[in-house]
Amino acid sequence: MPRHFLTLFDLGADGLRSVLARAHVLKRLRGTPEHPRPLQGKSVAIVLEKASTRTRVSFEVGVFELGGLPVTLLAKDTQLGRGEPLEDTARMLSGFVHAVVYRTFGHEKVQTLAEHASIPVINGLCDRYHPCQLLADLQAVQEDLGTEDLRGVPVAWIGDGNNVAHSWINAAALTGLDLRLACPEGYLPDAQVVARAEEVARQTGLGGRITVVRDPVQAARGARVVTTDVWASMGQEAEHAERARVFAPYLVDASLMAHADPRAIFLHCLPAHRGEEVAAEVIDGPASRVWGEAENRLHAQKALLEHLLG
Ligand code: CP
Ligand code: NVA
Repeated sequence: MPRHFLTLFDLGADGLRSVLARAHVLKRLRGTPEHPRPLQGKSVAIVLEKASTRTRVSFEVGVFELGGLPVTLLAKDTQLGRGEPLEDTARMLSGFVHAVVYRTFGHEKVQTLAEHASIPVINGLCDRYHPCQLLADLQAVQEDLGTEDLRGVPVAWIGDGNNVAHSWINAAALTGLDLRLACPEGYLPDAQVVARAEEVARQTGLGGRITVVRDPVQAARGARVVTTDVWASMGQEAEHAERARVFAPYLVDASLMAHADPRAIFLHCLPAHRGEEVAAEVIDGPASRVWGEAENRLHAQKALLEHLLG
């Protein structure tokens, strides 16, 4: 059975801890002769059914730096985009490459690809989760804290209870974060995702907490990390105007940041919309760690690839 990475739970708490520890090492080794090349002679397909900048570049460069060959397929230009079954695509890609990164819509599509592939499948974002993003984000939090121990660290998620929020919820369960999500009614994280994460948090025993509130100030109060995401995700473009209206009180600006810990950092998976979910004064200000966070996609995913394929 190949080892897949469809959600953070596929790594478990120990796997996540070791991937993050390795991400820090690979970051230090980048550009040195000691940098490993465990993907020599191996290829990784990156199949994109949605737009991407960071995921594509970080996986392409990461595979290259590990000694392998990245093969990017924009689904609309492939037979998959013309209706070739996902099951057939999975079997066929398994004969060519050693892993597939897949960005798509429904989570069940990532699951279907994984079920029919004999190589590891990595979720490069779906409507439900964005686990690769959280590897980079957790690395950024550890860097700022100066410790790999994330137990009890208060994190405020402000805005949509979306795919990235769901992956923060899973991360809290595996690391012990104290995650408070402030989301408007109708845009809360999926109750099943929260319930499953609470179960995993109990099993993990690191004290991870997930609290969903409506009030951004309540979530931000004392937070060491404040984070948000776009109000309309890919595939929700038609809802943009309605969402902009509902989410208006969820803007992360300096007055919201003032409720957080004075050392609080701001994270955003990017792309960002200044003046919508985040004010320029925050994302371009001293608390922002978004560029280092984005760069960590490279280091953390290299550690993931090494873990799955090395
Ligand atoms: N954060 C992120 O996944 O960015 P892209 O959509 O550019 O890949
Ligand atoms: N929630 C966003 C994340 C983009 C990286 C989306 O799915 O479009």
